[in-house]
Amino acid sequence: MKQINHIPPLQKAVSDAREKGKTIGLVPTMGALHKGHISLINTAEKNGDFIVVSIFVNPTQFNNPDDLARYPRDLVSDLRMLVGHGVEIVFVPAVEEMYPEADTRQFDLSPLDQVMEGKFRPGHFNGVAQIVSRLFEAVQPDRAYFGQKDFQQLAVIRKLVDQLNLDIEIIGCPIIREADGLAMSSRNQLLTPEQRAAAPHIHAVLQKARALKNSRSPRELQAMVKEAINNHPLMQLEYFEIVDDQELKPIVSWDNSANKVGCIAVHLSEIRLIDNIYFH
Ligand code: PAJ
Repeated sequence: MKQINHIPPLQKAVSDAREKGKTIGLVPTMGALHKGHISLINTAEKNGDFIVVSIFVNPTQFNNPDDLARYPRDLVSDLRMLVGHGVEIVFVPAVEEMYPEADTRQFDLSPLDQVMEGKFRPGHFNGVAQIVSRLFEAVQPDRAYFGQKDFQQLAVIRKLVDQLNLDIEIIGCPIIREADGLAMSSRNQLLTPEQRAAAPHIHAVLQKARALKNSRSPRELQAMVKEAINNHPLMQLEYFEIVDDQELKPIVSWDNSANKVGCIAVHLSEIRLIDNIYFH
């Protein structure tokens, strides 16, 4: 495993691997790595890819400066976590490497960026598209791996690849959870012990909603989730939407063939957590 901080040596290493007949797999991350990230890498390893992991806290996707300032960063522990998972290159660029000049590109991600995360975090997905398109350009991977934890992000990336006409296979990987059901997230380490103990409530409420699917309308489930979250003294619901898994349009009745996903964002004081569940 080799750490590379600049784009030219990254491109050299990738093209050497390609010459040897390897397929290139890219796993973009913002560090503070956990088993959710590692699961993406393990999937890339199973596919036999030459694995490039990027670690870069992308400033352009943070609509809230406090969120960016407090985002956990620990490269030493990240590098330690990556050992033994078949990673060939860890790409750790500085901000100036990725953005020598300000990126003013505006991507047309509509309607995917108009709802949920897009609605509550204006500009977020444009920033994600900026950095992911730059990483794709630098690495030119055959495959890129993203988690379903960030369900809307995955849909946005698929749209981006389509729009830019890139020949990159986007692989969506299942959500990895703690034993108590909390979806793993770098932001979990920012929770106080009390908040951390409360946080599994989010997944429990989603599971309850799914279990009630046959007896309640989507709107009734939405109200149920809202009440169950807001009744918790440490939690405040930002949104809970049941949407189809392609266009992310709200589901108004169950008699519809699309796959449906319930997506949630919850505040525990200033920490914001997201999760989702398929309503199969
Ligand atoms: P980050 O939050 O570090 O996540 C990197 C990747 O890991 C994303 O594809 C995310 O969906 C996945 N992931 C995070 N937690 C997961 C979990 N519990 N189970 C499965 N996968 C999980 O998402 C980003 O970074 C950034 O937006 C990025 C794509 C790197 C662009 O800056």
